[in-house]
Amino acid sequence: QPVRLADYRPYPYVIDTIALDIALDADETIVRATLSVRRRGAAAEPLVLDGKNLQLRQLRLNGAELPADGFVATPDRLEIMAPPAEFTLETEVAIHPARNQSGKGLFWHTNRLITHCEAEGFRRITYFPDRPDVLATYTVRLEADRQAFPLLLSNGIPMESGEAGQRHWTLWRDPFPKPSYIFAVMAGRFETLRDHFTTAEGQEVSLAIHAEPGEAARCAFAMDSLKAAFRWDERVFGLSCDLPVYNVVALPAYAGAQENKGLNLFGADGIIADPAITTDEDFALIRRIIGHEYFHNWTGNRVTCRDWFQLSLKEGLTRLRDQLFMEDELEPGTYRIEQVKTLRRNQFPEDDGPAAHPVQPAEFVEIENFYTATIYEKGAELLRMLRTLVGAERFVAAIRAYLVRFDGQAVTIDDLFDTIEREADVDLAQFRRWLHQPGRPTVTVAREYDPERREARFTFSQRLPVNGEPGQPLHIPIAFALFDPQGGHFGKPLLIELRDWSQTLVIADLPRAPVPSILRQFSAPVSLEADLSDEELMHLAVADDDAFVAWNSAQQLFTRGVRELALEQPAAMDALVPPAMVEIARRLLADARRAPGLTALRLSLPDEPALSEGLDRIPLDSHMAARNAIRRAIGRALADPIHSLYEQLSAIDPLDLSAPAMSGRNLRSVLLDFRLAAGDEKGVSACLAQIEEGPSFTEAFEALCLLGHCDRPERQAAFEAFHHRYRDQPLVVDKWFKAYALSRATGVIDEIIALEGHSAFDISNTSRAVAYYGSLFRQNRVAFHDASGKGYRFLADRLLMMDQMGRGHPAFFMAQIDQWRRHDEPRQTLMREQLQRIAGTSGISRSLDEVVNRSLG
Ligand code: ARG
Ligand code: ZN
Repeated sequence: QPVRLADYRPYPYVIDTIALDIALDADETIVRATLSVRRRGAAAEPLVLDGKNLQLRQLRLNGAELPADGFVATPDRLEIMAPPAEFTLETEVAIHPARNQSGKGLFWHTNRLITHCEAEGFRRITYFPDRPDVLATYTVRLEADRQAFPLLLSNGIPMESGEAGQRHWTLWRDPFPKPSYIFAVMAGRFETLRDHFTTAEGQEVSLAIHAEPGEAARCAFAMDSLKAAFRWDERVFGLSCDLPVYNVVALPAYAGAQENKGLNLFGADGIIADPAITTDEDFALIRRIIGHEYFHNWTGNRVTCRDWFQLSLKEGLTRLRDQLFMEDELEPGTYRIEQVKTLRRNQFPEDDGPAAHPVQPAEFVEIENFYTATIYEKGAELLRMLRTLVGAERFVAAIRAYLVRFDGQAVTIDDLFDTIEREADVDLAQFRRWLHQPGRPTVTVAREYDPERREARFTFSQRLPVNGEPGQPLHIPIAFALFDPQGGHFGKPLLIELRDWSQTLVIADLPRAPVPSILRQFSAPVSLEADLSDEELMHLAVADDDAFVAWNSAQQLFTRGVRELALEQPAAMDALVPPAMVEIARRLLADARRAPGLTALRLSLPDEPALSEGLDRIPLDSHMAARNAIRRAIGRALADPIHSLYEQLSAIDPLDLSAPAMSGRNLRSVLLDFRLAAGDEKGVSACLAQIEEGPSFTEAFEALCLLGHCDRPERQAAFEAFHHRYRDQPLVVDKWFKAYALSRATGVIDEIIALEGHSAFDISNTSRAVAYYGSLFRQNRVAFHDASGKGYRFLADRLLMMDQMGRGHPAFFMAQIDQWRRHDEPRQTLMREQLQRIAGTSGISRSLDEVVNRSLG
């Protein structure tokens, strides 16, 4: 029984204020709520409030109890049959945080009481219309034992506090009306890092990051990132923090992040940073998610979603904002490439599988299953295309106009598009199809050059995926430039707006056939087919001033090589590696110092699922064998330049977090991978030395990951030693599970499964469970697909187990198995059998049922 966008109707009541009085206790918490309610329209209707596992203890309307036939209360719903036009409703419920395993509502976590409400968790705390279009002003009084819960936090501003015997209380008031999903409470013992920020308007904001005692000093980088995000949003979008107090909480053993108003919540891995245990990638991730949750304060909190079909309105837009923030921080061009990699790895397969859905879905069963790469990543791409079409300045102006116009409201993606249309004076009628058509268009470019007329013709065509509904052509911005094969550009870069199935562009006055640079900056989320020669791709890979096209050209060339080689027998592959593979690597290495980060990206061989983009079948084994043969060939043929560059890069200061230093370390790890691929002892000793000596933690950890893929006797000992060295650092132990679970060594699936019995593993530690299971099920392209089917059986067992525990995010783990139809036998059958086993198990949740049956089709 799906929920449908078309069935939306406004809530018939307005709830102006809610006052909560919460007596906190791990076993039994008492929640008293006072709602001021008034009818929206003229007609009287019952008042229906959501609930989940609530025990009603008291109910009063305008101070009086209701007759038994005046209301219906169940743990999951409260209905008042005939309320007056305007009234006060008081409820008192009991809830049981220690028994709440769902990770939603109020629950007990590492000796603290915390909440997580998005999307539908608030109904586990009190009876309320738990939907994003009901905005109320919250006052929250928290009361708890002083010893156990020294700090009592909620949204907004602390107004008063006091003590009463063993207990104490704090009263919080959030001046801004908000939807229930960004309500939050945190109570417990923390150590706090404090700072402050003065906004462009001269308002003081007190900043606090609350973490596990002993960890406050390790919050300094997150604090710096928070201030950088404040500054960036002021500078780029003209948006300042609207509260005098901004709290951030870092929770151990927790995964994810949440933009609760004035009280952002993060798993510790999103906050805690220390060069001794944090990789460059983690540093960048912390900066990004700190930025992401802060940017939600405007795009999501001040202006929110009318219903969950509009989820991308806040997530796509906020993702775009965090991307733009990071692009300003890292080596130019590289972060855009990282985004495209993420999109191709996570979103393209979604498009190509049974979970395909548009950025604005028309229906869903369980909203939890729709926090997808399509909503976040493709949603961000849609808005980025609009930014490309109207220009960065007009785009910012339009976003600002949208925030002014809809401040304090819950709106739709169409409301945003309408505003952009009006402010930037564009017609988005055709562009809006992107919101409703699932799947990804393929753009092909055919070309001709006429030397007599000195003229080139380019024909751009688009086709839509065959499995989708017969769609209509999309409005696709294609950034385009022409290079002179003898060096330099021909003319200026152009923006082509492809609106028809096919369009031709003629360019005159060209002395010779140009090399086209297509889809610069990845100007649209499409698959691209252009028949460039190896020599042309090499030219672009080295010489294009657009980082994306340079990288993508190298990727295309390597992909071509892998696919070609994959047609050969594995034993013959080493001898048949196409010469262009080594040649491109040679050219890129020669120029490596100019842009080390870009070079690292260009030299990294494409992996699944990128290698199979656009193919109906994933020839997994032959792709992997061919990919390895190419790595080996490059590692051997270029051993000397690789070695000397590797040595030169060892001089980077491990404490230097500047973009060039991070890029240099990244390149060094890519080179180490080629050294290992070459298969000689020198590479292995370099790897072992790097694990021991780094010199940075990044280099040590990356080397461990690389060794994890090698069939070497040193592998297990190295993993054990690394665990021993960091056993007191939970965040490193999480990463250790990740490195192990990503391992691609031969037959390693048994070892990975056995890791579940390791004394450091605990399924109720969410960050560890995500690191371990997530890496194996979502990302390991080899061990998960072990031909025995053990990986698939393990996934099914754990999906069932987590579902039974009431704590499943099943959609998250389906990324690979959802592709079962594209795999060879016997994998296809083995995967289908496991899906059928889950579907045939009685008593599974609606959520698991939805994803498994969708997968089976
Ligand atoms: N709104 C959060 C963010 O993007 C993510 C919430 C995820 N919630 C969920 N129920 N899956 O920052
Ligand atoms: Zn978000």
